[in-house]
Amino acid sequence: MLYGGVNLENLISASILNADLLHLEDVIHKLETAGADMLHFDVMDGVFVNNISFGMPLLKAMAGATHLFKDVHLMITDPLKYVDAFAQAGADLITFHYESVSDPFAVVEAIHAAGCKAGISIKPSTPAEAVIPFLDKVDLVLVMTVEPGFGGQGYIHEMTEKIEAVRRAISGWDRDIMLEVDGGINGETAEIACKAGADVLVVGSYLFSQEDMTAAIAGMRFGSGEAEEIE
Ligand code: DX5
Ligand code: ZN
Repeated sequence: MLYGGVNLENLISASILNADLLHLEDVIHKLETAGADMLHFDVMDGVFVNNISFGMPLLKAMAGATHLFKDVHLMITDPLKYVDAFAQAGADLITFHYESVSDPFAVVEAIHAAGCKAGISIKPSTPAEAVIPFLDKVDLVLVMTVEPGFGGQGYIHEMTEKIEAVRRAISGWDRDIMLEVDGGINGETAEIACKAGADVLVVGSYLFSQEDMTAAIAGMRFGSGEAEEIE
């Protein structure tokens, strides 16, 4: 599909938070076949968010079963403490929350030192400007389009302007920075987010509610004009 004269495709990062965890290997192989680009792995500690999910042992098991890019989203209070452990467990990209630390630069540095791409995420109440000081260092900015903690919530439409603002800020830099959105993404909100400038869509419950995952993923390729190949 064409937007703004370019047809580069956005990427799909499948969140396994609400997948059938008893049959995770089957789920992963279905996602590979259906054309997902990344696996989105939500880590929650019950403190930074009101939910507890999974950690390094499950990531390590998954990493042994797939070559898909492992997109790890840390929703925890002390990400610095766990960067090396998630890197060793197979993370390709580690994203932490701006709100969870006093020194985000130290976390970005530790993630790069561990050999991973680094992402910084902002909650709905945090303004787009918060990420600006990090744009010369990070590989990805994650704009949360729901309150972090649970899958299956509705996309917060006020976040569309924030996606646009982050896209404008990223455009000022001559380096590759992905813009990811997470929460409430479905066929309709995927298009809204891509038009606003997102180039990586995290998709959880919508994907697993679809009979035909291949068609669902193909139906969420809109292109932001900024998408790039990932290694
Ligand atoms: C929410 C998580 C999301 C979640 C998205 O805190 O970060 O990755 O799995 O799920 P859906 O797509 O159902 O909103
Ligand atoms: Zn997430």
